[in-house]
Amino acid sequence: MDLKITKITKGEKVNFSNPAKDFYEAIGGEKGMRKLMYNFYDKIYESNIAHFFPQDEDEFEQVKIKNSNFFIQICGGPKVYKEAGGMDLNEYMIKFHDDFSINEKARIEWLGTMREALNELENIDNEALKSFWNYLDNFSKLTVNSF
Ligand code: HEM
Repeated sequence: MDLKITKITKGEKVNFSNPAKDFYEAIGGEKGMRKLMYNFYDKIYESNIAHFFPQDEDEFEQVKIKNSNFFIQICGGPKVYKEAGGMDLNEYMIKFHDDFSINEKARIEWLGTMREALNELENIDNEALKSFWNYLDNFSKLTVNSF
């Protein structure tokens, strides 16, 4: 499936919707989401944004766990992401990424890496996948804080 990365323009208003729960169900719920996110992070370590992430194995494992929990919750699964402390999850995530200097090039690499992991999924309904992708493509614009 053709998952397009749309470009960001400074000052543009970003609209996004959370992914439909269909995607979460299509990949096999919690277990499937963890598998996808671990595969994604293995690829991140081969990517040119690897230096953004902890090099220590235990710290890296924590990022994988928290990241998986976030995506389980944002896709309509159980509320397993505990870090936001009552804040809206997406707002918390934008704030969280402010600690890192993320530019459009890093965003494109992040999305390209995620796309590779998504392309390895088998028998996923196209509409469900598209809903997940649209969230990533749009929401990721709000993690960019360096121009
Ligand atoms: C749709 C867009 C994105 C979402 C939903 C997302 C989500 C997340 C989540 C859930 C975490 C773990 C948070 C935690 O520890 O509690 C995380 C960590 C991180 N993300 Fe993102 N992310 C996105 C885009 C990006 C992009 C474009 C970059 C660019 C480099 C990036 C860099 C990082 C870094 C550096 C960490 C943390 C590593 C650490 O804890 O040391 N993210 N992200």
